[in-house]
Amino acid sequence: MIKPDGVQRGHVGEIISRFEKKGMVMKALKTYQCPKAVAEEHYQDLSSKPFFGDLVNYICSGPVVAMIWEGPGVVKSARLLIGATNPLESAPGTIRGDLAVEVGRNVIHGSDSVESAEREIELWFGDKAGCVDWQPTITPWV
Ligand code: PPS
Repeated sequence: MIKPDGVQRGHVGEIISRFEKKGMVMKALKTYQCPKAVAEEHYQDLSSKPFFGDLVNYICSGPVVAMIWEGPGVVKSARLLIGATNPLESAPGTIRGDLAVEVGRNVIHGSDSVESAEREIELWFGDKAGCVDWQPTITPWV
């Protein structure tokens, strides 16, 4: 999910490009004004953290771009592309390492496990809007 700062700063195309160049296949994409209840459910495991309220307000502060990406080892691979949670600790070359400086404005969220991804896909794309079940017609992985 490209967070509101990533959308407002015009990084949507660059971020999508990095996933495509890696070889992942986009299965769904939608712009979305996240309701507070969805943000709270998305981050439910963090509800006791002192930054929870700020995090929910941040995610709801403008449109996000929610996406489903598929590919071999996609969760681990995406997290490597995204970089460490704190952009000051993200390596140069990663999305957060190149595009962000604050943990509270770190441009993008990636699911941390296949189980989380399944939960988040159901939460964000439960109505299947924006989803297409397809495969590339060319050999997908070099
Ligand atoms: S924790 O505290 O270890 O559970 O947090 P972490 O796994 O590092 O991060 C979980 C998500 O919380 C976001 N986060 C914050 N948001 C706002 N302010 C502060 N201080 C902050 N610290 C962590 C962090 O970006 C993670 O969000 P996602 O969207 O999953 O990357």
